[in-house]
Amino acid sequence: MTKIIKTVSEWQQLKRSDKIKNKKIGFVPTMGALHEGHLSLIRRSNVENGISVVSIFVNPTQFNDPSDLEKYPRTFESDVKLLRDLNVDYLFYPDYSEIYADHFKYKIIESDLSQILCGKFRPGHFEGVLTVVMKLLNIIRPDKAYFGEKDYQQYLLIDEMCKAFFLNVAIILCPIVREADGLALSSRNMLLSSNEKILAQRFPQLLKSEKSCEIIKNELEKLSFKVDYIEEIGNRRFGAVHIGKVRLIDNVEI
Ligand code: PAF
Repeated sequence: MTKIIKTVSEWQQLKRSDKIKNKKIGFVPTMGALHEGHLSLIRRSNVENGISVVSIFVNPTQFNDPSDLEKYPRTFESDVKLLRDLNVDYLFYPDYSEIYADHFKYKIIESDLSQILCGKFRPGHFEGVLTVVMKLLNIIRPDKAYFGEKDYQQYLLIDEMCKAFFLNVAIILCPIVREADGLALSSRNMLLSSNEKILAQRFPQLLKSEKSCEIIKNELEKLSFKVDYIEEIGNRRFGAVHIGKVRLIDNVEI
């Protein structure tokens, strides 16, 4: 039975109890609207740890656009059911005041990688992500924390932050889970209409093609995508596009 914990003090008390004290803790932070991608992280945590904790917190400070925050999918009841089906031990489900008693006066700012790719198009986004992840890791104090490869830039920033601040946690990267048509799973996919969903398949198809970034960008624009970027860094090609009001990101090894 998944126990729902809403406050920091409740978790801290539990963590000291005999039930948890000597067990390895795996942590999967999420913003809810859980899909198979999240479930793959949770399954891995279950295998590798004695206790798995999942958090659901739609973090307002990482949304640079208020309407994006407003329409972000919230499916709490079905999320809890999925967590119970996977035998997750604890769901940490705090409210805003529990996490941001400081009203976001204290922030984690990274000045390099956070300024490119998504950071360039979503000002302040990674400040919000890094700050909330730092808070969550300090609360839960897991041995391992699991992140998806779809948000590869986010993963790199979190991994570097943990090293920079000597956090005693292993950051584990888990592979992207895709639909049969190639679309990377994302909570935002729920916001696509059926026609948009069909169009969305073209994004991963083109991203992994042999074509140049410039050609991929042009072809996506012809198909009516609004393209934030298609860029190659190291051995990876990254892309971010909008279909209607929905923003999608993806990346592939090249
Ligand atoms: O990837 C996400 O869902 C979020 O950015 C995270 C890591 C849970 C922080 O809010």
